[in-house]
Amino acid sequence: MSPFLLTRTLPEDATDAALRADVLAGLTRTPKTLPPKWFYDARGSELFERITELPEYYPTRAEREILLDRAGEIAAASGARTLVELGSGSSDKTRHLLDAMTDLHTYVPVDVSESALRLAGEALAGERPGLNVHALIADFTAAIELPQTPGPRLVAFLGGTIGNLVPVERAAFLSAVRALLAPGDALLLGTDLVKDEGVLVAAYDDSAGVTAEFNKNVLNVVDRELGADFDPGAFDHVALWDAEREWIEMRLRSRVAQSVKIPALGLVVDFGEGEELRTEVSAKFRRDGVRGELAAAGLSLTHWWTDREGRFALSLSLAG
Ligand code: SAH
Ligand code: TRP
Repeated sequence: MSPFLLTRTLPEDATDAALRADVLAGLTRTPKTLPPKWFYDARGSELFERITELPEYYPTRAEREILLDRAGEIAAASGARTLVELGSGSSDKTRHLLDAMTDLHTYVPVDVSESALRLAGEALAGERPGLNVHALIADFTAAIELPQTPGPRLVAFLGGTIGNLVPVERAAFLSAVRALLAPGDALLLGTDLVKDEGVLVAAYDDSAGVTAEFNKNVLNVVDRELGADFDPGAFDHVALWDAEREWIEMRLRSRVAQSVKIPALGLVVDFGEGEELRTEVSAKFRRDGVRGELAAAGLSLTHWWTDREGRFALSLSLAG
């Protein structure tokens, strides 16, 4: 059993305050929105794991294929002794990388979901004697402070999660990541690629309805944390491809005209029949776009790998 440390970088009431602020801002503007990080309570994390196993949801399998093929090259190119993973979730695919990183000293999974970090971190520490696991409960869109561990550092951001940020957020995020890196440190980034609309929409609107349940779970979070009376059954899951912005947009459409009370905010929110609440975007990328966004943050792309069907890419970039 190797050491497992779990650090909360934000006090619990800060999470509360952030949820209140986000819900208040998001539900009082037009169109209404809710930010994606609130999807991932224990139930949301579990539902996401079920999504990764759906026949329609190809990104997890495609990224796993690349990691299986390329883990050795990634380990050699980075030479990393510390692996930091942002939005690590179950850390499941990361195992392929950990297997190849023979010089690794510490693995630092970072996530907002404490339940996911505990499950993954405790299992990994148990399985891998000699590996230090230092998990951080933190918001990767805010400034994060990493533990003092030996370099070089590899920061991994997998799953296409970067696509859940809109372009201005991505620019700020990549600059913040760049600031965590010393010269010679690297970023391993997973990006889902632009492809046929039918394939994309199916991945976010599966026939078993798991994605619909996941999307509606954000309403359960607001109900539980802020005492609201959202009825998830009164909303339909919607997934649309925005061809201009090249992202999938997830929405919740009110089936009826309704008023929702949010006592913790002293707020009543009215929805018209058919009114849509935007919950998430999942942007899809092209190589030149990824290279350009990385370059704008001071990162230079050195490797670009895709799965055999060209659906998903992993890129490695270096801090200059
Ligand atoms: N990397 C995993 C999980 C991807 S799902 C995979 O590839 O399968 C996205 C993960 O990011 C979830 O575990 C979620 O809890 C986490 N997450 C979402 N927003 C976050 C934020 N703002 N800060 C930290 N973690 C976040
Ligand atoms: N990072 C994942 C993605 O964009 C998250 C995700 C998958 C997701 N399915 C979803 C987010 C459905 C919201 C709703 O692919």
